[in-house]
Amino acid sequence: MDTLISELKPQIDQDFLPLGGTDYIELYVGNAKQAAHFYKTAFGFQNLAYAGPETGVKDRVSYVLVQNKIRLVLTTPLISDHPISEHIKKHGDGVKVMALMVNDAYDAFEQTSKRGAKPYLEPKTLTDEFGELKMSGIYTYGETIHMFIERQNYNGPFMPGFKKIENAYNPTSTGLLYIDHCVGNVGWGRMNDTVKWYEDVMGFKNILTFDDKQISTEYSALMSKVMSNGNGYVKFPINEPAVGKRKSQIEEYLDFYEGEGVQHIAIATNDIVKTVRELMARGVDFLRVPSNYYDDLFDRVGKIDEDIEPLRELGILVDRDNEGYLLQLFTKPLEDRPTLFIEIIQRKGAKSFGAGNFKALFEAIEREQELRGNL
Ligand code: FE2
Repeated sequence: MDTLISELKPQIDQDFLPLGGTDYIELYVGNAKQAAHFYKTAFGFQNLAYAGPETGVKDRVSYVLVQNKIRLVLTTPLISDHPISEHIKKHGDGVKVMALMVNDAYDAFEQTSKRGAKPYLEPKTLTDEFGELKMSGIYTYGETIHMFIERQNYNGPFMPGFKKIENAYNPTSTGLLYIDHCVGNVGWGRMNDTVKWYEDVMGFKNILTFDDKQISTEYSALMSKVMSNGNGYVKFPINEPAVGKRKSQIEEYLDFYEGEGVQHIAIATNDIVKTVRELMARGVDFLRVPSNYYDDLFDRVGKIDEDIEPLRELGILVDRDNEGYLLQLFTKPLEDRPTLFIEIIQRKGAKSFGAGNFKALFEAIEREQELRGNL
């Protein structure tokens, strides 16, 4: 038995940053109270916890929302002279933190720092009557942060400093289950450095690459590389603009976010037809591909379990890889700046990201860019 463990040990040691998945996503927003209402009403989140003046936090307010395994934190500053105010002034509403579950937040900080990470939050231990939570944080692209959260000895609603809140308004779930992947947009020529950073600092691997020839339309182009941690629980595709006749959607994002940042959060569902129908009924706007997309759908993706009619009606996209197929659909940007949007994804074996849909999708995005005068 001892020999077995010692034989296994070098393999286990290879993953110097074991991750249990996404702990939470935090957005800095101009008005967290109203944003919380939007994400509850439109997407079916419910209140979980709150921090603000009533809990001893004087300079900001945070609402924590939950739906199945997804925790969304919406934070707004209460004063103008505050780093969060500066963040919102520059970027608008957007993702500040992609927090990751770890078994040891102190070690995660040490491992990544010694490999070159820029520190954001030195490891610290927070305690209250529910136990002990440890956290630390490092910068990734732009002003975006990865927080490492160790919560196995904590039983409270979210973390010390937050209190549970009950709210009479609890819209039902739309079937959103967990974060599938989070995509980052980086600047011109920044792809390779960012990929190398995830490899060197976080121990991730580049599992898929799309060059600008695979992702281009008549007008614009981009490149994409997918980074994954060892167990595949955390996947971060990275996009960089490429030269085209007109402005790429990534450039439009970089212009309006005024820097690098999170482009979209992909959320998994077990029943995309039901989820998308529900989201549309609640006012969520989705990108639409032309209806001729469905004319040769079965030629492109083969046999699928779903009826084609609801897919055509709702505009849901389908793609196949060697392992199976996936269904997906993308919202329009969730803010007035054309920056962050959400992808709804249902995987039926496929582990890829819908490359077969890129062209139809990007043409749909370009029609929106054109309307904004940004193509
Ligand atoms: Fe995606």
